[in-house]
Amino acid sequence: MSLAQRVAEAADIVTVALDELLPRADGPESRLTEAMRYAALGPGKRLRTYFAIETGKMFDLDDRPVLRAACALECIQAYSLIHDDLPAMDDDDMRRGRPTVHKAYDEATAILAGDALQTVAFEILAHPDTHKDGNVRSEMVLKLAQSAGARGMCGGQMIDMLGVRDDLGAVARMQRLKTGALIAVAFELPLIMAHAGDGERHALMAFAQDLGLAYQIVDDLLDAEGESATLGKKAGKDAAMGKANYVTLLGADAARQRLSLLAQQTKAHLDPFGPRAEFLRASVDFVLERRN
Ligand code: IPE
Ligand code: IPE
Ligand code: MG
Ligand code: MG
Ligand code: MG
Repeated sequence: MSLAQRVAEAADIVTVALDELLPRADGPESRLTEAMRYAALGPGKRLRTYFAIETGKMFDLDDRPVLRAACALECIQAYSLIHDDLPAMDDDDMRRGRPTVHKAYDEATAILAGDALQTVAFEILAHPDTHKDGNVRSEMVLKLAQSAGARGMCGGQMIDMLGVRDDLGAVARMQRLKTGALIAVAFELPLIMAHAGDGERHALMAFAQDLGLAYQIVDDLLDAEGESATLGKKAGKDAAMGKANYVTLLGADAARQRLSLLAQQTKAHLDPFGPRAEFLRASVDFVLERRN
């Protein structure tokens, strides 16, 4: 199976599992549950899911716990995108090729759908079906909370909103927080379930952190150079909104050069895993070559 097929398979599996786990539209609060399902079941790439599943395979984990962890990640991802698109943040009308949640519904519903998707993520992780060992579940909850919170995704989003001036180090930190943290935890949740040793854990987390930074630089290049129709979201927003990132600060060519160096460094972190990490190694190029 090719890497693209493995990613597509992971996407299908997590979407089916999320459909089962998300609350169904029922009762007077139906509008909220519908909006949650609209956001979370929409056509995302599910790359965080893919990373979690691939890591689970590397450590011979059972499928079901990893899949539930992936569902939790996708709920946080969907919530972060709903809120990122709100008028008070990036003010976007299109996401995943469809109207954003506040356009399809309204702002209040979008805020609540994001809030409730965040809590569903922790409900899924904390549920005994995710892992028989309560200590393992609790560590997973802790790591997901840390990566989504003020020292993770939300912190990065705050810095993005405030703006960073001409300081690449500060931009890199913002990217590592706003995007890198949730990508890194996609590797960390399976590592926790695998009781991986310190050496493997450090190597894979170093890989994950560099991959997260690379992921956001690609997002910024696509914003500058991609087409809205392919991206499924509006292109050209970052420059228009005066956002600081590698591309707006350095220009696309210099950003690409840095990205290529970063990609080599990212792959090198996998050396200790040898052929076991074949697909994760290839996923670096997959991330660099993505078009949406
Ligand atoms: C978009 O994430 C926001 C970023 C962190 C760059 P993705 O590009 O992974 O979006 P989906 O989940 O596939 O829609
Ligand atoms: C958002 O970064 C990262 C999140 C934490 C959601 P962007 O604002 O660049 O993401 P897009 O381009 O809207 O997907
Ligand atoms: Mg944003
Ligand atoms: Mg945005
Ligand atoms: Mg972007």
